[in-house]
Amino acid sequence: MKIRKCLFPAAGYGTRFLPATKATPKEMLPILTKPLIQHGVEEAVEAGIYTMAIVTGRGKRAIEDHFDISYELESQIKGGSKEELLSEIRLLISKCTFSYTRQIEMRGLGHAILTGETLIGDEPFAVVLADDLCTNGDSDGILKQMIEVFNRYQCSVVAIEEVPKEETFKYGIIDGDLVYGRDDVYRVHNMIEKPNPKDAPTNMAIIGRYILTPDIFDILRNTKEGKGGEIQITDALMEQAKHDRVIAYKFKGKRFDCGSIDGFVEATNYFYNNS
Ligand code: UTP
Repeated sequence: MKIRKCLFPAAGYGTRFLPATKATPKEMLPILTKPLIQHGVEEAVEAGIYTMAIVTGRGKRAIEDHFDISYELESQIKGGSKEELLSEIRLLISKCTFSYTRQIEMRGLGHAILTGETLIGDEPFAVVLADDLCTNGDSDGILKQMIEVFNRYQCSVVAIEEVPKEETFKYGIIDGDLVYGRDDVYRVHNMIEKPNPKDAPTNMAIIGRYILTPDIFDILRNTKEGKGGEIQITDALMEQAKHDRVIAYKFKGKRFDCGSIDGFVEATNYFYNNS
């Protein structure tokens, strides 16, 4: 089955970036001139996905306006040297469709994904957390790599990277067995959300890229609040993992945690030096 849709949970409050995120969505914070969510949409397009499904919340209208035409602005700069600055976003808008639904209460990432069901329906789909900015230079992007893995194994896929052991409390951590003949693909048999380093089975952390099979929605409907009182996607994925239905993929490329100030500055410097 082809992955046609990409879900962007973008309803979180982004409290780590206050006061910037008081009236501006975290996903609209720019790395150089491009908002985080545009980087994510470009990664999806590179992976052959053109249907974007965005879960927003109160105060997030700027995201909708960004993926729309701004007639006044565009007529103002028409024919001038600045027009070029809008060419990339115009191309995205012409290639893609954007649908939105609102998460009314911020009950966690799992709940945000469940809120997106109405936009996804009964098919496997990609999930991008735009505050994890990923790049693989001119080579295949992370989502494109993950779709290849999905095509081979036909089950949910999470992207993982090794993190320092003392940072496991920030991530969903997996444990699994390498798949025969691969050094980058694991069959997951355990996952724990944000474990203390002493309880973490490994240092392999899930980052903000997922391919999910649609049975995840029924599982999420029955998933109780977990760590932090939120409905956790890690807990729902664990249900699939019990049936050997989750693959973890150690991607090629770099990830910047742009939900944190350090990661955001690192990404800014990286893109400044490499673009
Ligand atoms: P985070 O916990 O990193 O984002 O959620 P946050 O809550 O916005 O940030 P801080 O910690 O307060 O600074 C990971 C992703 O899940 C989305 C967020 O928008 C982000 O992309 N999310 C989280 C939702 O859409 N809804 C939620 O209820 C929670």
